[in-house]
Amino acid sequence: MKEVLTPRADYASVLSEARDYASPGLERVQAIMESVARGAPGNLSGHLQQLLNRRGKRVRSTFLLLLAQAGPGFDLERAARVCAAIELIHLGSLIHDDIIDGSDLRRDEKTAHQRWGNRVAVLLGDYTLSKSMELIWEDADRRVPLSLCRASSALITAEVLEVERAGRMDLTLEEYREIIAGKTAALFDACGECGALLAGFDAADVRRASALGRNFGLAFQIIDDLLDFGVGAEQLDKRTFSDVKNGLLTLPLILFLNAANPEEKARLLGLMKEADVEANQIAIRALLETRDAFGQARAMALDSVRSGLEFLESLPASPAAQHLRQVCLLMTERSL
Ligand code: FPP
Ligand code: MG
Repeated sequence: MKEVLTPRADYASVLSEARDYASPGLERVQAIMESVARGAPGNLSGHLQQLLNRRGKRVRSTFLLLLAQAGPGFDLERAARVCAAIELIHLGSLIHDDIIDGSDLRRDEKTAHQRWGNRVAVLLGDYTLSKSMELIWEDADRRVPLSLCRASSALITAEVLEVERAGRMDLTLEEYREIIAGKTAALFDACGECGALLAGFDAADVRRASALGRNFGLAFQIIDDLLDFGVGAEQLDKRTFSDVKNGLLTLPLILFLNAANPEEKARLLGLMKEADVEANQIAIRALLETRDAFGQARAMALDSVRSGLEFLESLPASPAAQHLRQVCLLMTERSL
């Protein structure tokens, strides 16, 4: 495949170009989700429609559609149903996650539980999850619903792990990896697997595509964790320092603690005790920067995403494959 990156390329424009290319599929994804919202019981219908009006970045659908479009088996309607199911799982998991994290802002707006209360928000998440399964159970390939059921279970398992380990300052790199592999990489893994199945790729390429999705997802969450510190977060649409305030140790903190001397460790842990104080947040960032914790974390994200490039290079040349490659290459530069 030819090099398509220009020196001017940045993640926001590359993602926007990729979404333009995938727009017929993405429009259909939105229409399917809106019809799910219209059919929802009681007030859930209006609430869901409001949530869908504030469109997310649709990274998962774009990733899946580009992969599916890179092969000979692409069928827009089928792919759109799978994407809508994935977006509904994602939406439900974020609604529930915001309750668990006590977050009041998402996509620059009040979170569902802040607007309508916990009881309604729990039901909204439950509804989107069950509707997602209805959308794909009839898919011609049984591996598609299986993939999404497994991803949903992985999300929940990882969230349980994260909640149970919250507040532990001795979280290891391996435990962190296990958490992000489940809560974020598993759904991207399913995007890779389903995208390749819908593209009509052979079993070996389905495995490579799911590994690409997994590694993309790991990198995506590492960058999310950097954004939580406000690092590179110019366009962020949610609050910063929520992980630290919730006692969650993420990659930059783990890398810092692994390298720090006892005085540095004590200083960090002291600052983290009052992480809602802005001066402490600035001091935490500065302290982590002394050990290049953010730079190292970004490098690990880049390594993860690069491990899938060989597979992308092996795809038959097509605009879809080129867009996918660009999105993968620049994802670690994302600022929202
Ligand atoms: C966001 O992480 C959290 C997730 C992607 C997974 C949440 C999963 C659950 C709540 C389990 C329920 C799952 C289903 C399928 C209903 P984050 O808090 O680090 O990201 P954020 O900064 O965007 O909040
Ligand atoms: Mg959260």
